[in-house]
Amino acid sequence: MSKQFKFMLDESNIPKAWYNVNADMPVHLAPVLHPATKKPVNPDSPSPLPMALTSQEVSTERWIEIPEPIRDIYKLWRPTPMFRAHRLERMLDTPAHIYYKHEGVSPVGSHKANTAVAQAFYNKEAGTKSLTTETGAGQWGSALAMACHFFNLACQVYMVKVSYHQKPYRRILMQSYGAEVYASPSDRTAYGRSVLKSDPDCPGSLGIAVSEAIEAAVMSRGTARLAVGGAHNFVMLHQSIIGLEALKQMEMADEYPDTIIACAGSGSNLGGFSYPFLNEALTQGRQTRFIAVEPAACPTMTKGRYTFDYSDTGALAPIMKMYTLGHRFVPPGIHAAGLRYHGMAPSVSALVANGYIEARAVLQVPAFNAAVQFARAEGILPAPESGHAIRVAIDEALRCKETGEAKVIAFCLSGHGHFDMTAYQAYHEGALQDYAYPEEAINKALAELPEVPEFYRGEGSPFPD
Ligand SMILES: Cc1ncc(COP(=O)(O)O)c(C=O)c1O
Repeated sequence: MSKQFKFMLDESNIPKAWYNVNADMPVHLAPVLHPATKKPVNPDSPSPLPMALTSQEVSTERWIEIPEPIRDIYKLWRPTPMFRAHRLERMLDTPAHIYYKHEGVSPVGSHKANTAVAQAFYNKEAGTKSLTTETGAGQWGSALAMACHFFNLACQVYMVKVSYHQKPYRRILMQSYGAEVYASPSDRTAYGRSVLKSDPDCPGSLGIAVSEAIEAAVMSRGTARLAVGGAHNFVMLHQSIIGLEALKQMEMADEYPDTIIACAGSGSNLGGFSYPFLNEALTQGRQTRFIAVEPAACPTMTKGRYTFDYSDTGALAPIMKMYTLGHRFVPPGIHAAGLRYHGMAPSVSALVANGYIEARAVLQVPAFNAAVQFARAEGILPAPESGHAIRVAIDEALRCKETGEAKVIAFCLSGHGHFDMTAYQAYHEGALQDYAYPEEAINKALAELPEVPEFYRGEGSPFPD
């Protein structure tokens, strides 16, 4: 029998509803607290998000219908293909079966478009005129810029300064869709100005860019609202489309994953890919290992603390119970491989803390080695972020070679790396250094966690640290 490489679904198979893991969460999620009052926020609290999204944030409905205008735009690239990596298997000489879901086929090159389109749609419905957001290397910003254009919304992107200068092409992509892009910290917001005053050379961080985007939305007095690229429950919900399609595609392949792997920055491609399979594990007793992969330079889950922290640096955003490196964490400039957010989605954090998901940290040179090996086998140059997942997929396949087990390994190829040539160039020139974020720096950053009422973290609390 000839080998099948691609598992393709047609448009009629684009899911009609997203899967909400909060309906089946096997562990308690702590409430999200207001940054000033430290009281739980609820959908009626004032928010820079539209009501539809704040409702999705707290919803425990298992299935949430995907509105038709969103499905229509998804048709531009969804369903995305799932591949069996026969050529990589042969290169590794492994008995493992390796599959990958290719989210890099979206027009902007990553999974971020799945939630960008949904957030732009709900904002348009709510009468929003303009969206503000943060972006690191620019994958999320370009996804939102495209989605805003589709719904005739203005778009302002605060881009981490070091990337703004090092990665001009993503900025130009955002501008091509009509977005305004500012290097963050900027002098456009009071928070940005305060950061620049104390550190004029600050390279920026996602946490600082989030604070600026929130301030810009709040100061617009109702014309602009905030959009977010990860961490929040509604983002995980929108991304569940990845895993829902993958479930059908594994069925077409007549196999089921023993191991599911995804990289994690704020957790959205990991949650999106893995939660529909986790649902199978929880409700059908399927035995699957879930592995979240992060960089050793930003070791949120493997060295951070599971506790309450601000989701931005300026303490304007809600306090969430999550793995965190401290909201003042500024990632080291020598780290080129993405995934630099100080926190992690509360749902992913709770599942890691309770042993449902394993967390692993990898150094950047081994991640790039894996990305290049993958490109040479399968032809696709991955986003450096996705390289982290590929590193662990290859390591797991090599373990199978030692044990002789024909395990089924599936990973999410969250994006392509066509805009990441500066990082690949540094890799090829041998200029990338491995760097593990030092323990002392983590302890220092964690010394500035917010005070929250004893009920939420004290002994006997339903949400113990
Ligand atoms: C290609 C790619 N993969 C993964 C991530 C990490 O984000 P998340 O953990 O929310 O999927 C990013 C972040 O921008 C990204 O651009």
